[in-house]
Amino acid sequence: MKIPIVRTLSALQKITREWRTANKEISVVPTMGALHAGHLSLVREAKSMSDKVIVTLFVNPTQFNNTKDLKSYPRSEEDDIKKLESFNIDLLYAPENHEIYPEGYATQISVSGVSEGLCGDHRPGHFNAVATVVAKLLIQTSANIALFGEKDYQQLHVIKRMVKDLDIPVRIVGCETIRETDHLAISSRNLLLSDKDRKRAPILAKTLMDAAKRIETGEPQKIVLEDSIKILRSSGFRSIEYLELRAESDLKVLEMVDEPARILASIYLGNVRLIDNVKVRFGNS
Ligand code: PAJ
Repeated sequence: MKIPIVRTLSALQKITREWRTANKEISVVPTMGALHAGHLSLVREAKSMSDKVIVTLFVNPTQFNNTKDLKSYPRSEEDDIKKLESFNIDLLYAPENHEIYPEGYATQISVSGVSEGLCGDHRPGHFNAVATVVAKLLIQTSANIALFGEKDYQQLHVIKRMVKDLDIPVRIVGCETIRETDHLAISSRNLLLSDKDRKRAPILAKTLMDAAKRIETGEPQKIVLEDSIKILRSSGFRSIEYLELRAESDLKVLEMVDEPARILASIYLGNVRLIDNVKVRFGNS
């Protein structure tokens, strides 16, 4: 079924106002397009939990650390629309740049704490830009529920913190990472891997999963994380930006695993930056 595609804020608000008057619960799934099974899992989840589903498609220029990355970001709007049609969503909001950043735009949201360390250390300004655009999309769509992937675990935390701190009336739902059958976390960047690197890329997920199991059985995290780095280096992963264990609740550094945790990593294979994270269980979590 054809889905309404809306490119202006005024057209968006006209529709959402009617939905709200009719007491409809609205979900939003913010994306930058080039939709894959990871994005579509969020859409499926959104469909199951609300009356109306909005997907946003906006390649946010401010969150890229260089113009080359922004220019090479995959764009496939027609294919994206076809994929979304098969889910029968209620609206695609694909705003022009000036609907998000009008002339004279000057406001930035900065979330301290959870934005620091991990990806925050390697992508200056990235999470401020993400927080700012997500705040705008949440306010513009007036959604009751917004869904984000655990794949971008730090991003999910930054958004949760921002929504809480700014009293934005929306429930943030985190959805589990969708993986290929060989466990590689699905990402549009996977297509940039050479054939050889694509074959070894799943070693990242496997190494993190093995490390989580070892830590769950009580092995010291320091030794386990050092072993993981060694395995990745010897498997051809070059620059390891980080491989760390953090608390699941707020990403604080954990000396001891005495609460549910995550092992998070960012690593280069060739010129492609891959990120992934896995859960470390504690107790019944
Ligand atoms: P994008 O990379 O397009 O991702 C959109 C959403 O899909 C994010 O919530 C992301 O975590 C989720 N996602 C990506 N791969 C996934 C996977 N394999 N499994 C589950 N979920 C997955 O993240 C962004 O866009 C932007 O930063 C955005 C939030 C839209 C702000 O511009």
